[in-house]
Order: sequence, then C-alpha cells, then structure tokens
Amino acid sequence: MLYLVLKAVHVLAVMLWVGGMAFAHYFLRPSLATLAPPQRLTLMRDVLRRFFAAVLVATGLVVASGLWMIGRVAKQVVQGGGSFSWPLDWIVMTAVGLLMVAIFVVIRLRFHPRLSRAVDASDWPAAGAVLVDIRRWVGVNLVLGVALTFFVIVH
Ligand code: HEM
Repeated sequence: MLYLVLKAVHVLAVMLWVGGMAFAHYFLRPSLATLAPPQRLTLMRDVLRRFFAAVLVATGLVVASGLWMIGRVAKQVVQGGGSFSWPLDWIVMTAVGLLMVAIFVVIRLRFHPRLSRAVDASDWPAAGAVLVDIRRWVGVNLVLGVALTFFVIVH
C-alpha cells in the first residue's frame, strides 16, 4: 500500500513539473508576445517565481518518493535472502531525474535571480536575454521529462 502511495505522489509531482513546463513553454510564452517588454518580462518573472517554488517541492517529492520506492524493494529482496540489483529503467530514471533536478537548480539559482535583478533595474534587453536562456533550459528539461516518462512506461 505504501509503495502505491509513493508511486502516486511520484507521478503527480512529475505531472506538475512536466505539465507546468509544457504550459509555460507552449501556451503562456507565445501568448505574451504582443505585450510590451516591461509588462511581458515582469509578468514572466512573477509567474516563474511562483512556478519554481512549486517545482522545488515537486522535485523534492519526485526524488524522495523514487529513492524511497527503491529502498523498499531493495529491503524486501535482501530480507528474503536475495541480492538487489537496480533494474535498467530505474538506473536510467535516477540518472536522468537527477540531471533534470540539476538543470532546474541552475535555472532557479543562476538565471531566475538575474531575470529578477534585470526587471527590478528596468534593464529590458538584459531581462529578455536571460529569459531566452531560461526558455532554452526549460525546453531541455521538458524534452528529457517527456522522453523519460515515455521510456519508463513503455520499457
Ligand atoms: C531521482 C529521481 C528518480 C527516481 C529515484 C525514480 C524512481 C522511480 C521508481 C522506483 C519508480 C517505481 C517503478 C515501478 O514500480 O515499476 C518510479 C516510477 C515512475 N517514475 Fe520515477 N524516479 C525518478 C525520477 C523520475 C522523473 C524525473 C520522471 C519523469 C519526468 C519519472 C517518471 C516516473 C513514472 C512515469 C513512473 C511510473 C512508471 C510506471 O508505473 O509504469 N521519474 N520512479
């Protein structure tokens, strides 16, 4: 039962993270193209601040629930006298998942503060340039997240 609850939390957190990136990338950003830079960049800064706060919680839940599930299975196998070895899809998921978390940390700690500072200073060219960087890395994480979900389910 606990295993299934962990898996539900895991998948719901993934949905928030990957779904939120898809929404920002494909629906929000193009719809703001008609706004003037001050409005567009201030709005994106505020939206991303809220979204990244939620992603911080989601990534914590994804990693904790994932490792917890692996720990439970490993414990059962060892208690039953067997030796535990990680299945290939779990190895891939852990590696790609941690890479995605690392990319998120860079976006959150490096690019978003720069965007905030540029918006506060009304330096719209600089803010626009940082947003291009954020869009690129969110795009990378979106591709990784979709590909990983596809791989884990069909593998
Ligand atoms: C450190 C990172 C991660 C770890 C340790 C981890 C570990 C796990 C484990 C142990 C399961 C249970 C598999 C099973 O019961 O067969 C699982 C399920 C799943 N994970 Fe992850 N995961 C991680 C990150 C991710 C990420 C980043 C994604 C997608 C973006 C993801 C998507 C999924 C999905 C969709 C399932 C359900 C698969 C199914 O039931 O068929 N995981 N994960």
